Amino acid sequence: MRKSEISASMMCSDLVNLKQTIHIFEEQKIEYLHIDVMDGEFVPNIGLGVDYIKSLRKLTSIPLDLHLMIREPEYKLSWIGIEKTDIVSVHYESTYQVQRMLDRLNSFGCKKFLAINPATPIWVLEEVLDYIDGINLLMVNPGFAGQRIVTSTIKKAEKLQHFLQERNKGNIILQVDGNITPEHGLILKKYGASIFVAGTSSIFRGNVEDYEHNIKELRVAIE
Ligand code: DX5
Ligand code: ZN
Repeated sequence: MRKSEISASMMCSDLVNLKQTIHIFEEQKIEYLHIDVMDGEFVPNIGLGVDYIKSLRKLTSIPLDLHLMIREPEYKLSWIGIEKTDIVSVHYESTYQVQRMLDRLNSFGCKKFLAINPATPIWVLEEVLDYIDGINLLMVNPGFAGQRIVTSTIKKAEKLQHFLQERNKGNIILQVDGNITPEHGLILKKYGASIFVAGTSSIFRGNVEDYEHNIKELRVAIE
């Protein structure tokens, strides 16, 4: 069983307290900062662009978990400033050329994750399992924080665990993203999830003074 890791969803943080937030995350050894890059086309929201990523790298060395919710990312990867220590999630639904998109990530040396939306069936993964390091299983329709889990995705996580086991692909990392409360984390851990995107459903509840407690609460649920 892989060690559970927390990926803090920075779209939920407020810029006013960014330095204090990062300090708490470093103290609490948060493993990744989840960056939702949104183009307003693939998802109905715009956010966390290239300049934000550049500034964040000056603030901390916590690796980034770049969730690219953009159309045809394979043509835009060089814009982003991807580093070897990053995770990059690209969406199956964002291009007609999925395998070429994954191939183009190779030159960056980052971990390659394929993200799939709630209605996208697991079998789309069949032909690309050899090209990915992980899967970002969206538990909500992507683009906004504060949403409620799409209930069918819990069963989907269980099915995905069997799908990977049947193909001896237990090495593929499972990340879960969207409304990950401690309760949902506890359930999804059982289905093989090891990276938990923590947003308004966990870390970012209340104010910055509450973050340390919220992190500890989530850690207990997913350990
Ligand atoms: C969803 C985003 C996530 C996440 C935020 O599009 O990718 O970052 O939902 O966390 P919650 O759902 O807990 O507010
Ligand atoms: Zn995300």
